[in-house]
Amino acid sequence: MKHEVAAIAAQRVQSGMVVGLGSGSTAAILVAELGKRWQSGELTEITGVATSFQATAIAHEYGIPMAELNDVDHIDLAIDGADEVDPQKNLIKGGGACHTREKLVDSRAAEFLVVVDSTKLVDVLGSSFPVAVEVLPMAYVQVMKQLEELGATPTLRMAVRKAGPVISDQGNLIVDAKFESIAHPADLEIAINNLPGVLDNGLFVQLATSILVGEIEGDQSSHREF
Ligand code: 5RP
Repeated sequence: MKHEVAAIAAQRVQSGMVVGLGSGSTAAILVAELGKRWQSGELTEITGVATSFQATAIAHEYGIPMAELNDVDHIDLAIDGADEVDPQKNLIKGGGACHTREKLVDSRAAEFLVVVDSTKLVDVLGSSFPVAVEVLPMAYVQVMKQLEELGATPTLRMAVRKAGPVISDQGNLIVDAKFESIAHPADLEIAINNLPGVLDNGLFVQLATSILVGEIEGDQSSHREF
């Protein structure tokens, strides 16, 4: 499913575009697909703007020309994955701890295309995934207490194959805040970001232009867009 939507999304990129390159396993396939189109000469004069170190590394592997966010005056299209998507196209992101940079890039794109498999679709955000919150290391205990006051069960995200916590690309910590369900994502996004010490959280409200969903029925894969 991920391959199907990533390959379709890669075809949306045209020569000359400035493209926001997303993060996560689906976006990684997308960046590689773009890289193949670039290397074959099918795409010319594209510029990538990375949402993470992961995206930068894959783009470098294929030689895709890259620019920093501060160096571009527009982004034509951003393509990124998501952890949950509701019927209003609101998202939870941050499964890869990249949501702060992802929001910076995705929110500045003229078009923001989200690529997911059908398991990511939910009626109400928060159904299965916590909201990732990027926090200054010196503030994490106080932020966790305040997230509890907002109704969450917070946990400090721990690393795998490294002792201690996950460190974000910006050198900060990630607190995963699990809510029962999120009835008002716009209000919660603001409330969390108002906590001192928080950089940004994984609620992406009214940012996505369209959602490309990969589905499998039997042994047939297909896709739809809304
Ligand atoms: C990273 C993200 C990813 O886009 C999100 O976690 C989806 O990843 P995957 O495509 O691996 O399911 O937000 O911070």
